[in-house]
Order: sequence, then C-alpha cells, then structure tokens
Amino acid sequence: MKIKSAKFLLSNTDYKKCPADDKPEFAFIGRSNVGKSSLINMLVGRKSLAKTSGKPGKTQLINHFEINQQWYLVDLPGYGWAKVSKTSRKAFAEIITGYLLNRQSLVNTFVLIDVRIEPQPVDLEFINWLGSHGLPFMLVFTKGDKLSKQKVQRSVARFGQALQQTWEELPPMVVSSAVTGQGREELLGYIELWLG
Ligand code: GTP
Ligand code: MG
Repeated sequence: MKIKSAKFLLSNTDYKKCPADDKPEFAFIGRSNVGKSSLINMLVGRKSLAKTSGKPGKTQLINHFEINQQWYLVDLPGYGWAKVSKTSRKAFAEIITGYLLNRQSLVNTFVLIDVRIEPQPVDLEFINWLGSHGLPFMLVFTKGDKLSKQKVQRSVARFGQALQQTWEELPPMVVSSAVTGQGREELLGYIELWLG
C-alpha cells in the first residue's frame, strides 16, 4: 500500500470524543517505550508525525491519524508503566479498555512487544484480555535491529511458547524495526487485506 497522506486529527482521553466512527481503524498498543509512536512514523514514512521519546510515558492520549483519507491509525498510551502512581495507571487502563471495547470501527489491534525482553506478565495478561473479548490482534515485535537474526528468532519462539500455555492457535506475528524499516511491507499489506 502506498501512503499518500497522513494527517494528525486529534487527541483524547475518552473514546466518546474521538473522531466520527466512520472509517476502518487500526490501533497500536503495548508497554510504554516499546516503540509504538516510532513504528507509526516508520509505517507512514514521516519522521515525527507521532511524538516519540526516550523516556517512557510520552503518549498519554488516544491519538487519531487519518491515512489516505480512508482509514485511521491510532496511537494509544502505553500500559504497565511502573513509574506512574497506581491511580494514573488505573486511569490509563480505563482509557485503553474504554476505547477498545467501544470503538465500533476498530478493525484490528497491533500489540507491540520489545523483541529483546522475555515474555512479561503484563503483555500476556493484555493479550489474554483481548482474546477474552474476541478482539482481533497481531503481535509486532519491535526493535528488531537491536538483536542478531538468530536471537530475534529465539525470542519470537519463546513468546510463542508462553502464549501456547493459554492459546491453542498462535496469532499472526511480525518482526519490525523503526530504524531499518523491517516489517513495513508486511504490516501495510496486512492492513490492506482488512481494508479489502
Ligand atoms: P510511550 O509513548 O511512552 O508509551 O512510548 P512508545 O511506545 O510510543 O515508544 P517510542 O516510539 O516513543 O520509542 C521509545 C524509544 O525507543 C525511543 O528512544 C525510540 O527512538 C526507541 N525505538 C523505538 N523503536 C525502535 C526501533 O525499532 N529500533 C531502535 N533501535 N530503537 C527504537
Ligand atoms: Mg508513544
């Protein structure tokens, strides 16, 4: 798919105030600092459409971007950020679950996992939560440039094994890098399939 236009629309803390629910929508989620905003920029080929930061907790709102005047891409706040208070962690969780459960045009969620770290309970819990609500998702391993090919494969296999404890069938998975552009064609192709 060719990206002809990418436009930031608006930021919200509440799904009710998001743009009209009238275009197919794809959300990006994962732990803070996993590389959600960087991946979005890599996909659309714009350096700083979504704001990124070396410090966790940069994205705190539901951010809508309109792509090719046809579909929405959504940058969500990170979950499982240890450095915020319990109260704000709960507030973030409510923003995220409220959005995921109520957004009618949400087509697919991309769950981002840092390929360098071993399976984290918070990620597995979130994935199981999506499953229990029947929400479709794809796993995207980020920062693929930081490990050797072999280590990447090992890490992906390890995650698959962790999932097999609760899942009969594994979800689609892809390895990406915001630095090298790895995974771009696969991810855009996947979105295109959904767009039909
Ligand atoms: P929050 O908005 O805080 O939840 O974080 P985020 O998930 O949006 O992460 P963000 O895109 O801001 O990236 C976090 C840090 O990881 C930044 O320093 C990025 O430059 C770095 N980063 C993201 N993706 C990659 C990647 O594919 N490769 C490498 N080497 N660094 C990356
Ligand atoms: Mg972000």
